[in-house]
Amino acid sequence: MTIIEAVMAIEDLAVEFGQHSQRVYAVNQISFSVHKGEWLGLVGESGSGKSVSLLACLGLLPKIGRVVSGRARFGDRDLLRLQERALRELRGRDIGMVFQGLSTALNPYVRVGAQIMEPLLEHRLASKPTAKAHAIRLMEEMGIPDSAQRFNSYPFELSGGMRQRAGIAAALAAEPALLMADEPTTALDTTVQVQVLSVLQEACRRRGMGVILVTHDLAMAAHVCDRIAVLYGGRIMEIAPTATFVSAPAHPYTRALQAALIDPSDPWRPLAPIAGVAAPITSKLTGCPFVTRCPSAMGRCHTEVPIVTLQGPDHLVACHRVQGGILDGD
Ligand SMILES: Nc1ncnc2c1ncn2[C@@H]1O[C@H](COP(=O)(O)OP(=O)(O)O)[C@@H](O)[C@H]1O
Ligand code: SF4
Ligand SMILES: [Mg+2]
Repeated sequence: MTIIEAVMAIEDLAVEFGQHSQRVYAVNQISFSVHKGEWLGLVGESGSGKSVSLLACLGLLPKIGRVVSGRARFGDRDLLRLQERALRELRGRDIGMVFQGLSTALNPYVRVGAQIMEPLLEHRLASKPTAKAHAIRLMEEMGIPDSAQRFNSYPFELSGGMRQRAGIAAALAAEPALLMADEPTTALDTTVQVQVLSVLQEACRRRGMGVILVTHDLAMAAHVCDRIAVLYGGRIMEIAPTATFVSAPAHPYTRALQAALIDPSDPWRPLAPIAGVAAPITSKLTGCPFVTRCPSAMGRCHTEVPIVTLQGPDHLVACHRVQGGILDGD
């Protein structure tokens, strides 16, 4: 068996916001890793702690947020213990970033080509003419037509899909080992989403890059990711290879997410939305975060936080009712 090296391994990460009665436990002891050439999907409803987990590793939390514990191993370094200067060196060079609403994140006053060249120039990886040639090649690879001309365009002169492709080109420019893509296509129409995602997938596979794809869309994650980690209330509920998620999801929350998907073989089947809402966690958990919405909840679920345990090959689940990867009652 070949052991593939982890590009990044997060262990026991916890992040909080605010103080005293205003405190929010946004991320609670989460652990996961992403390997070279692997796509890991980080899936969960809005507010489940997906973005905060990544921002914490990049040193980009807003001021009222803080890392209270954990490690984020990247090569021989722990990202959570690096000074801002060292993190600035890593961001954009070793870790590429495509964040939510990127098309609006591109600087509207700077030409697209200059923004793609920026990581190469900022990290002194290439001279200006080399960086320009590289940027145009990347734009072509991203499927942006007339790249040499579009190099001089301002973001508003491109369509949403083309702006997103340009943003991805900027994220890949320095050939990072890891790409963090946070809802990279959410703002786009479905057909454009599929096109942009397949360009991104192809480009990352070619480079053997590790990718963390943050999305609220389980179907999208299942389509492009090798493994999926499901978050709820800032905790990991289930991590498994995508095939396991599709054929034998074990956690009641994962099952509920799956039931809420449109079945392509039966598009008229009524969807089963998950009852209740995911509220922010404002006090230390004493039980399962999903307990108020879980159809399988029992007494113990209110008083004991379920621990993530290995249930099968590469299959981790946090649920009192799951044994050997099987939900009690199946
Ligand atoms: N700037 C902030 N101030 C206070 N709380 C925040 C802030 N950003 C995020 N949070 C808290 O962290 C939780 C997780 O947020 P986030 O990681 O952005 O969710 P998502 O899974 O949608 O990306 C939110 O539910 C919220 O309670
Ligand atoms: S631990 Fe209990 S409440 Fe939580 S998902 Fe499992 S059965 Fe449901
Ligand atoms: Mg988010």
